[in-house]
Amino acid sequence: MTKIMRPIAIGLLGLSVSAASVAGPEEDRKAFRKFYENRFPDTPVADFQNGIYSILPEAREQWESIEEFPPYELAIEEGETLYHAKFANGKSLADCFGDDGAVRGEYPKWDKERGMVVTMERAINECREANGEEPYRYYKGKIAAVSAYMSWNSRGQVVNTVIPSDDPRAMEAYESGKEHFYTKRGQLNFACADCHMYSSGMWFRADMTSPAFGHATSWPVFRSKWQEMGTLQRRLKGCHESIRAEPFKAQGPEYSNLEYFISYMSNGLEFNGPSARK
Ligand code: HEC
Repeated sequence: MTKIMRPIAIGLLGLSVSAASVAGPEEDRKAFRKFYENRFPDTPVADFQNGIYSILPEAREQWESIEEFPPYELAIEEGETLYHAKFANGKSLADCFGDDGAVRGEYPKWDKERGMVVTMERAINECREANGEEPYRYYKGKIAAVSAYMSWNSRGQVVNTVIPSDDPRAMEAYESGKEHFYTKRGQLNFACADCHMYSSGMWFRADMTSPAFGHATSWPVFRSKWQEMGTLQRRLKGCHESIRAEPFKAQGPEYSNLEYFISYMSNGLEFNGPSARK
């Protein structure tokens, strides 16, 4: 729609409007980042990878002491064992992702053949299935453990979500994730953007809402409230439940496109998962 409007905008409304109407993902990302830089001028850009702790000094100290004896350590160990465990056919996840699985920076990835977003968790399960094994259940447990191990070995890789320009479906997936982010839903009628953008840093019930810039970096997390690990999509489901919206299917197009958008917005930050959260 914006593309159709463009010549009219240039003709009638002048340059500034036409500049906005041609905005693509890269312009979106820059504006997104700028929004948070302006809103939280005391937060160094790289620190947005730390979610709420990037803007809430009172909680940060406690979190830092938790990170000294990280509650996700056991998950990394379990993940390491699962990662190297042999499938019935003698292979293992290492045959798909290399010795240490340090591939976090490649995900979420656009799969041109199937025209869909592939998250790292989906890729783990597809590797298992390609080798004749049952997929893990999504959100928590083994999938989160393996993801924790791979993310740990990938720490420091830079988020670099790619939207290939030679496949219009990739742009559509991005646009649908973006639309999801800004669309109000649920009985409470909130968009992601309401809580994590326009009111980021404000209190919602017992929690302050974190900036969405950086939301893709720290997964999976050990959350005190869960008392266990969970993936990013588990968290998305939780946020939908908190606004009494019907959650979507794990790894379905809605959550994966949303993850694609969130990840693209975090491009340039470093992956620092797994992490601890309240
Ligand atoms: C009613 C407010 C609200 C809405 C709407 C909402 N969330 Fe949240 N979200 C929260 C709160 C509160 C937390 C926990 C504190 C925090 O880390 O932000 C949270 C946490 C998160 C986290 C974890 C951040 C971290 O570093 O651990 C992510 C990611 C997230 N939300 C994404 C989303 C997305 C995407 C949507 C839209 C589908 C959404 N949220 C909708 C309130 C909301």
